[in-house]
Amino acid sequence: MRPALVFVGFMGAGKTTLAKEAALLLGGAPAADSDRLVEEEAGCSIEELFDRDGEAAFRALEERTACELLERADGGIVSLGGGAVLSSATRSALARHTVVLCEIGIELAWSRAAGKGRPLARDREAFTALYEERRSLYERLADAFLPEGARDALAAALPQLVALADAPEGTKLVWAQSASGDYPVLVGRGVLGGVGWPIEGRRFCITDETVAPLYGGLVPGLAGLVEIPPGEQAKTLATTEAVWRALVAQGATRADHLIALGGGVVGDLAGFAAATFQRGIPVVQVPTTLVAQVDSAYGGKTGVDLPEAKNYVGAYHQPSAVLVDPTTLSTLPAEEFAAGYAEVLKTALIAGGPLWEKVAAGRDVDDATILACARTKLAVVAADERDGGRRQLLNLGHTVGHAIETVTGYTRLRHGEAVGLGLLAALALSGQSQLREEVAALLGRAGLPTKIAAIDPAEVAAATMKDKKRTGEHVPFVLVDGPGDVHHGRTVGAPELLAAITELVG
Ligand SMILES: NC(=O)c1ccc[n+]([C@@H]2O[C@H](COP(=O)([O-])OP(=O)(O)OC[C@H]3O[C@@H](n4cnc5c(N)ncnc54)[C@H](O)[C@@H]3O)[C@@H](O)[C@H]2O)c1
Repeated sequence: MRPALVFVGFMGAGKTTLAKEAALLLGGAPAADSDRLVEEEAGCSIEELFDRDGEAAFRALEERTACELLERADGGIVSLGGGAVLSSATRSALARHTVVLCEIGIELAWSRAAGKGRPLARDREAFTALYEERRSLYERLADAFLPEGARDALAAALPQLVALADAPEGTKLVWAQSASGDYPVLVGRGVLGGVGWPIEGRRFCITDETVAPLYGGLVPGLAGLVEIPPGEQAKTLATTEAVWRALVAQGATRADHLIALGGGVVGDLAGFAAATFQRGIPVVQVPTTLVAQVDSAYGGKTGVDLPEAKNYVGAYHQPSAVLVDPTTLSTLPAEEFAAGYAEVLKTALIAGGPLWEKVAAGRDVDDATILACARTKLAVVAADERDGGRRQLLNLGHTVGHAIETVTGYTRLRHGEAVGLGLLAALALSGQSQLREEVAALLGRAGLPTKIAAIDPAEVAAATMKDKKRTGEHVPFVLVDGPGDVHHGRTVGAPELLAAITELVG
């Protein structure tokens, strides 16, 4: 029997509507809704059943209905009531299916569910508690994540949702949204070479000399390949020109696309080359470092460094797809993995909640952490693609971090190492001394520096003034009031900035 696409999610997430539309788009595939079947069997509405027989009776009928439905489903579409996944029998019956989580924020959920005869949407406080309680359950079960408002994207997302059944076991799909376009993000061991290529056209791979022999052979059906030298020093306009010219020599056209196979340097540079080659061709990001898998591959910021300042020339260019294969991290040198940990810490501080708790507890970075970081970043970018507001949160630790990279000529520290130091400066500026100590301990445990020798704090402070976010006299800072409580656009005084940087010297 074939797996069904099973839509789950909180009240008001639009599961039933999405399921109906999916069935239509799949040419009239069979579709079933567990709530409707429960009502048919009970001979009354769910609200009446709740009031007449109580929640326990409703749950028992819901479990029986959902399990029968899932056991006999052979392909097709199913939508489950919001609480159906509370049953362990239903969760077991879901195992052979593709579970699609229809995400929704609490505000929208309440506005859609309250006053509509839903028995569990009568009291706002209880509703919020239920939302928090169920969220992690849905996330654990989900094979695919459709963000709030993904209805318009359903036609594009459906082939990817259906194809998940043939992807390597455990592969997750996150549907990424931004003002300029949507794209699939696939996270799974073996996706590189193990899934159908997500977009049409000839492929030209841009990678670096370290990654090419390791993973270049896993990208199927390449029309061409360009290698650049590894490392930040290669992230220049000169290298980009070499890539453009190699693409011309290899016969790339506007109908083709690039693949950025490598770390953040390759991702940023190949993304920029794609944004500009013949005025723009698509790019598929295939990140192979932790920095790139948790952060840089998503969100469409591309570009190169100038000797004067980092990431100073570039373009927004969203990828057409991102393929994240955590098995590639097995060959990553320990120092590079550690550098990625700084971006994990940054993302966890922004996210707060379960991700912060897991990271703060010192747990190892696993595939679930990579997925959680990707989802955090994608949610921020979906709200603000072009750095007008919320996206600036992602610069936490980067203002001082970039300044340190610039004054050290991009040679002494890895990007992630500089970000770790920048996080400590941001926490000092936030007046969060205890959290600063906690983060310093986590950085130290990961083998990352918490001090830097032979550096002039005044020079670093001066370099922060070249930060791209500066619009007038002041450079806006991202400061932290607590995990999950991070704010952009804050002003800091020159003496405080100097003190926070001086604290890093040693
Ligand atoms: N665009 C964004 O939103 C964004 C976000 C964060 C960081 N960045 C950028 O990312 C860059 C840093 O990225 P990075 O830390 O990945 O550096 P990187 O790309 O230089 O990779 C680090 C090193 O690891 C090697 N490598 C890559 N994958 C490997 C693998 N699987 N096995 C063995 N070796 C491997 C590379 O050859 C390189 O030597 C910086 O330039 C930073 O500005 C961009």
